[in-house]
Amino acid sequence: MCGIIGITSNKPVSSAIINSLKKLEYRGYDSAGIATLSNGFINEIKSEGRVDNLEKNLINKKIEGNIGIGHVRWATHGIPSTINAHPHSSETVSVVHNGIIENSTKLKEYLISRGHIFKSQTDTEVIVHLITEYLKENDLKKSILKMLGKLQGSFALGIIFKDQPDLIIGARRGSPLAVGYGPNENYLGSDSYALKSMTNKISYLNDGEFCIIKKNQVEFFDEKGKKINKKVLELSSDEKNYDKGDYKHFMAKEIEEQPLTIKNCVKEYIDNINNDINIYNFPWKKEEINSLTLIGCGTAYNSCLTAKYWFDEMTNLDVNVDVASEFRYRKNKFKKDNLYIFVSQSGETADTYAALDLCNKNKMKTASIVNVIESSIARDSNFVLPIHCGPEIGVASTKAFLGQMLVLYILVLKLSFLREELKKDNYIQKIKSLKQLPDLVEKTIMSQNKIQLVANTFAEAKGSMFLGRGLSYPIALEGALKLKELSYTHAEGYPAGEMKHGPLALIENGMPVVVLAPRDSYYSKITSNMQEVIARGAKVLLITNKNKDDVVSENIWETIEVEDTNVDLLPFLLTIPLQKLAYYSALKKGYDIDKPRNLAKSVTVE
Ligand code: F6R
Repeated sequence: MCGIIGITSNKPVSSAIINSLKKLEYRGYDSAGIATLSNGFINEIKSEGRVDNLEKNLINKKIEGNIGIGHVRWATHGIPSTINAHPHSSETVSVVHNGIIENSTKLKEYLISRGHIFKSQTDTEVIVHLITEYLKENDLKKSILKMLGKLQGSFALGIIFKDQPDLIIGARRGSPLAVGYGPNENYLGSDSYALKSMTNKISYLNDGEFCIIKKNQVEFFDEKGKKINKKVLELSSDEKNYDKGDYKHFMAKEIEEQPLTIKNCVKEYIDNINNDINIYNFPWKKEEINSLTLIGCGTAYNSCLTAKYWFDEMTNLDVNVDVASEFRYRKNKFKKDNLYIFVSQSGETADTYAALDLCNKNKMKTASIVNVIESSIARDSNFVLPIHCGPEIGVASTKAFLGQMLVLYILVLKLSFLREELKKDNYIQKIKSLKQLPDLVEKTIMSQNKIQLVANTFAEAKGSMFLGRGLSYPIALEGALKLKELSYTHAEGYPAGEMKHGPLALIENGMPVVVLAPRDSYYSKITSNMQEVIARGAKVLLITNKNKDDVVSENIWETIEVEDTNVDLLPFLLTIPLQKLAYYSALKKGYDIDKPRNLAKSVTVE
């Protein structure tokens, strides 16, 4: 989704801005732009499409200046086009914006009545004109405060001024924003990834705050304009994770990294010698928690749904799972003995953050499971459980999904053991199996030769279905989500027992259907559901685990076997062929695998 970068320095900034915009490409966007100041003028260049296009444009029209802002835009108000790309500028100011200004129509009417002329269809342009208007009668700080007071909605802003050769304003409400510190230069960025190649010293703005960045000084203010102090954090350096290496796509790299990311995560939480789970500084006593609500979006939601099956199986806790965009507007019954757990790879998803914020405002117990530990969701939760995956760049989540499930599973085991619902022998046995998981994931990844051929059929089909029961049902949802987001074909995930209640009508001759049928307690049920779709002409791809009993393969189109392990852990292994199915379907169609159309890595608007 949209990304912001700002630099004020004692040397030219345009190429550093372009490099940082490239770091933000993983977020998904449709246009890009840059504005710098030189000789008292604002120079603005914008392009539709990739940052490469913008870079080519810059070769023709060199733009100079030691201060500038850049942006990648994911369209909300107004089509993706050069005119709607950011920055938006008047003669006086230039603005980049992430988020949505909800009252832009009203503000625009007012500004037009004051003689302002609008060039774009964006909501952002009202910010440009508001500042321009207020600067006529107020100093800079007052104008900014007045402008911020008028905006409704969510935003992160970067602003430069024609008459200020060393000053960038950053402001935040709802969308994340970071400040970076360098030698004789300072930076503004919508996340720390954008700044990491320039500095590892970062501060984050909280909601309502704004900052004034100069090359040798940064000042922070609260929403009333009162000066505040900020901590400077040091980030760890993991630059190598931003490189594809020998892989054609980040997604391929991230799928293959999974044995390692799981191993790292297991190492963080498992006490190898005592076969115990280490979760340090958990802030609540076991008696204080009687129920849980697991909240996320998309893939993160699917990981929550998987965890519900584990919680139900191994604990007496009442567990609800909710989509963040529903939870945040539902009339919730907040309960003191409920723990609200927010799952998010990026830790910046707007709906998930809003759901967390709502719980915090109601003084609930909040915990988060995130990949980016510096993120807003991590910072604002009472307790954080990181998934230790390293940066995930491919828009379609792969290693983070396994990481989210893994941390949720570890939490289930620990809580269940502490609550004396899981006996010690069983607990130790499950931990021992968990330690085998990285190897099993590796073997499963290596043995998926058939999948590329099978994927061609899915890529060409009009639509497909993914069926599962029990723990495999959320994995079916995840498989369908991955296929639709990457290959742009219709795919539906269903609990197999629901087929007769409607979806069976969709089955027609030759329709590819994935049936997830591991050898668990649902095996005989789901194989019956499978025969029902086969009888109606479906081409079934059966995915199961290796077992001493052969599969009765009557009329099954193709069978893929994953490694065998205890049934709790099968969701991890069943996911792998589905990730590859989606990857190869998109490859066959020649689509942009790491940046699927219309999607963004970090969904910072609701
Ligand atoms: C799908 C996918 C998305 C994200 C969702 C939540 O492959 O990646 O569905 O899972 O946008 O993102 P996070 O986990 O960053 O909150």
